[in-house]
Amino acid sequence: MRTQVGIIGAGPAGLLLSRLLTLQGIDTVVLENRSREYVEARIRAGILEQHTVDTLVAAGVGDRLRREGLEHSGIHLQYPGTRHTLDFPALCGRSVWVYGQTEVTKDLISAQLDGGPPLLFEVSDVTTEDVDTESPRIRFTDGDGVAQVLECDAIAGTDGFHGVSRPVVQAAGGRVWERTYPYAWLGILADAAPATDELIYAWHPEGFALYSMRSPKVSRLYLQVDPSEKIEDWSDDRIWDKLATRFALDGWEINTGPVTDKSIVPMRSFVSAPMRRGRLFLAGDAAHIVPPTGAKGLNLAVADVTLLATALVRLLSERWTDLVDSYSDRALARVWRCTHFSWWMTSMLHTSGDDFDAELQLSQLRRVCSSEAAARELAENYTGLPLDA
Ligand code: APR
Ligand code: PHB
Repeated sequence: MRTQVGIIGAGPAGLLLSRLLTLQGIDTVVLENRSREYVEARIRAGILEQHTVDTLVAAGVGDRLRREGLEHSGIHLQYPGTRHTLDFPALCGRSVWVYGQTEVTKDLISAQLDGGPPLLFEVSDVTTEDVDTESPRIRFTDGDGVAQVLECDAIAGTDGFHGVSRPVVQAAGGRVWERTYPYAWLGILADAAPATDELIYAWHPEGFALYSMRSPKVSRLYLQVDPSEKIEDWSDDRIWDKLATRFALDGWEINTGPVTDKSIVPMRSFVSAPMRRGRLFLAGDAAHIVPPTGAKGLNLAVADVTLLATALVRLLSERWTDLVDSYSDRALARVWRCTHFSWWMTSMLHTSGDDFDAELQLSQLRRVCSSEAAARELAENYTGLPLDA
């Protein structure tokens, strides 16, 4: 088998990269070790920046997003006694969309299977070879158990945090930065109409809570919990109880309903540099993880592959190496901006049990809710900065 760009991993990063390259006349093959059903059922975050929406629409996979996505013009920041609305269009001229990453993935997969380039599910034993040459290759076992070799001009490592690509890049030298936070998020999906127009990010002495949604009938809610908590210990009643406490506001109540999904996710920041070794390029979670508080994970993956697609087209169609040479530095500049913003949101909103920390957090929240400059800084980062910012 031969292709121009071999793509490892069919998450949003790999699928969108394949789509962007196909539109520019570059051949790709996408290799995914899970089944289509598994990939399409994974529940992940749900906020899309303006740039992400524009990119998906321009790539021809935005029809359902435009029909079913919910445009949001701000967020509510809450601390006891106060719920303050940040108006994003007024602060920075941009808004965001609520549309689940699961739905983005389904739209990309159906576009790919509808006459797009090969997308192979349930492959195994994926390894890369000769990435320091101009003819790298990927070895893998296909879904029928047959060993295959895919000859490539370039390889994209979009295989997420636990993939095989990052270790290959790091083996040639590089470094990683990691921060593990002493909190986790317990997330639920519920068949309950959201009781709020905008997402609510709530600080409470007991811990952070986030009120989000997926549609006019489905709510997505999160609670800060200790990372050692087990999901079996959290009955639906216990969860609703804690949510009611943390979102409490006079004259307002959350809407409850049947819980259809429940899980606990750890929170970490992680950055791996460089994002390239020879003809192997990393993008998305393969190179970096942010805690979900800033809603940046998917948007960063989309920004990476937007840069990478342009760089690969320039390399493979025009034989210019300038953009592949600058890819890692340009991508990492944005990665660190989003890493800082996600860390800052996380630090402002999650309680540690320390009274001094709590007073600093409340002071910061009051500042964001009273100063236009402070609010604008949050709004600009939340709605997404320009690609090279
Ligand atoms: N071979 C083939 N595929 C692999 C391998 C492997 N060895 N290892 C992992 N994969 C697949 C995973 O099964 C997954 O489908 O790579 C894909 C990586 O997808 P994601 O984890 O969704 O990562 P990415 O596409 O970078 O998307 C980033 O996802 O995790 C969220 O918060 C993150 O929203 C962000 C987005
Ligand atoms: C979500 O809806 O899943 C969501 C929204 C905002 C965040 C994180 C997750 O900051």
